[in-house]
Amino acid sequence: MGNLFDIENLIIKDESALTEVFVPERLLHRNGECDYLASCLKPVIINQAIRNVFLYGPTGTGKTSLVRWLFKELESNTSNAKTIYINCWKAQTTHAVLFEIVSRMSRFTNPRRQTKELFTDVTNLVKASGKKLILALDEVDKLENFDILYDFSRAGYGLVLISNSEDILAKLDVRIKSSLAIETIQFPKYSANELADILEDRASFALLPSKISKELLKVAANAAGGDARVGLEIVRRAAKLAEGRNAQKVEKDDIIHALKAAKRMKLESMLADIGEDSRVLYKIVEEKGSVASGDILAEYKNRMPNAASERSFRYYMEELVKAGFLEAVGDVRWRKYAIKI
Ligand SMILES: Nc1ncnc2c1ncn2[C@@H]1O[C@H](COP(=O)(O)OP(=O)(O)O)[C@@H](O)[C@H]1O
Ligand SMILES: [Mg+2]
Repeated sequence: MGNLFDIENLIIKDESALTEVFVPERLLHRNGECDYLASCLKPVIINQAIRNVFLYGPTGTGKTSLVRWLFKELESNTSNAKTIYINCWKAQTTHAVLFEIVSRMSRFTNPRRQTKELFTDVTNLVKASGKKLILALDEVDKLENFDILYDFSRAGYGLVLISNSEDILAKLDVRIKSSLAIETIQFPKYSANELADILEDRASFALLPSKISKELLKVAANAAGGDARVGLEIVRRAAKLAEGRNAQKVEKDDIIHALKAAKRMKLESMLADIGEDSRVLYKIVEEKGSVASGDILAEYKNRMPNAASERSFRYYMEELVKAGFLEAVGDVRWRKYAIKI
């Protein structure tokens, strides 16, 4: 038996630096987006209304991180702003969003308060604070009702909306859209080189020195398809594997095994970037295996009674095939679908 406590075989210094909980001190390759967003928020420093802004782009492109980071910076630069970040996936109803704001601004909350009363509470809290309220609504497409955006903008609250896809903007009522006068910032996927830089930066916090080579980080970056979350997960898993087998450093095989495990995560993130209809349709095919078109349609109507029509069905199935999620076999009348990825 070798030395049980041999520190040569330690690889990980701080695993959390490779997970979502870590808020990076610097965001690489997002200078343009950062400057733009800062310029939209800046007017609040001289007590003016901010320019509302909509950030969109695929998962893992740094939208959430950038907003949270800039909110923190803004609040440390001025006492005129109260920033609140809300993930609408966790607060989908108007009531839940208002409740969240109230609980972040005051110590007293009463979940039995009506939506209207909560709105008044927010108005009063903002007034009492003497600050301008700036709200980030992340995954804003998950909101059940968008009217609240109109109410917020009429009340003079600044809005930073975030979504994986641009679609939501087209879905907004003209009345809401014109009241928001929103600007947009697109977040493109990272290139493999950019992502390799990001992974290297994070690995320097997470791993002990010289435990993973640049070449391997590049392999991970390439496999992540422009998604930083997936890239970080590959590195995290590879480091765990290497440590688990008592290796001195991460080897190519660790990365290859980690890639396989991270594949599911990549699929989930790709599914998050497509609309809800496509996601439901994909899940149906995934559950049933190779399945006839008519059966999918029946199940789709079952699960989404409000949205599903035969026309939307054909459109979304076509999209899933085009994007490489599904494959279609047979001619139009007897078509069957199966999972491709
Ligand atoms: N430019 C970057 N520099 C460092 N880390 C980044 C960068 N972009 C994304 N990340 C990291 O990748 C993960 C996903 O980023 P996130 O902001 O959640 O993306 P999105 O909201 O677009 O899905 C987070 O752990 C984040 O810290
Ligand atoms: Mg996000």
